[in-house]
Amino acid sequence: MTQSTAQSIEELTQTALGELVLLDNSEALEQWRVRYLGRRGGLTGILRGLSQLDIEQRREVGALGNRAKSTLEDELEKRSQEISQARLAQVADLERIDVTLPGRPVATGRLHPTTQVVREITDAFVAMGFSIVEGPEVEWDHYNFEMLNIPQGHPARDMWNTLWVDYVNEEGQRPMLLRTHTSPMQARVMESAQPPVRVIVPGKCYRYEATDATHEWHFYQVEGLAVDEGITFADLKGTLFEFARRLFGSERKVRFRCDYFPFVEPGVDMSIDCFSCQGTDSSCRICRGSGWIEIMGAGMVHPQVLAGVGYDAEKYTGFAFGLGPERIAMLKYGIDDIRHFYSNDLRFLRQF
Ligand code: DAH
Repeated sequence: MTQSTAQSIEELTQTALGELVLLDNSEALEQWRVRYLGRRGGLTGILRGLSQLDIEQRREVGALGNRAKSTLEDELEKRSQEISQARLAQVADLERIDVTLPGRPVATGRLHPTTQVVREITDAFVAMGFSIVEGPEVEWDHYNFEMLNIPQGHPARDMWNTLWVDYVNEEGQRPMLLRTHTSPMQARVMESAQPPVRVIVPGKCYRYEATDATHEWHFYQVEGLAVDEGITFADLKGTLFEFARRLFGSERKVRFRCDYFPFVEPGVDMSIDCFSCQGTDSSCRICRGSGWIEIMGAGMVHPQVLAGVGYDAEKYTGFAFGLGPERIAMLKYGIDDIRHFYSNDLRFLRQF
């Protein structure tokens, strides 16, 4: 009996140790502990049988059992430490940094050149007390034309090559379009607010155009509108002059010439003196030798437009203007083709 119990203890110890070296994670270790050292484990079972032995044998085998138990416990502890050290070494290996390697460049995005210029323009007007508003790109004929003093059949409609939306109303008309300019927001803003009005409207516009270096079928505009009692043409000139100097340098001169837009009277176009050649180079690529660069249309808001939104045209006057940020960007950065702005060519975009 003593002999065979002692042998079972020896065998069990060997088997257990043989298994232990193969284990490589803490769950497996725990299962192993339960299997051999737990309350219902192998070794515990053998030792429980001791009660049937006489006192002498019990002491002998008991001592054997206790030694086996502490051997197994010690080895378990050792194996557990080996495993956690191996794990730490593995993590350290993964995290090891070779500081001599060149760094990986982080690719940062940037704002599109058009967005940058739109923000520069709106910032300049915000600094002068204008607020930014935006409006719909799909617009009614009513706002894009009618409210701007351009009724059906008016020859000035030819100034805007329009993309009409395929929607026919009960009267058989197609009253919806992709806005050809940001000017419709003039009427929308005035309909929803009383003077004083001072707004700046950046946004996308669309025209039925064959594209070339200076024409796109979609492009940006920035519209401006100021209406109050006592606004005169001098306010228009002062505001736009200040804007031109902020964007193109404090030395700029400006020139206003008569132009026609149905929603303003008088209407003008504004030019700045050529910041590239100051009018001294007859082959200048920017001003083509004229010394002047046209940058926007403007004028005093037509009384018809004021009356259309219910303003008292006897009491209120105002000025409006509209400009194309892509054109401004082309001038500022010497870009020779408007199509670059929409080609998504990274070689172009990365320059800004
Ligand atoms: N909407 C005009 C266009 O697209 C530009 C313009 C001219 C806007 C004169 C204005 C203005 O507000 O007063 O050609």
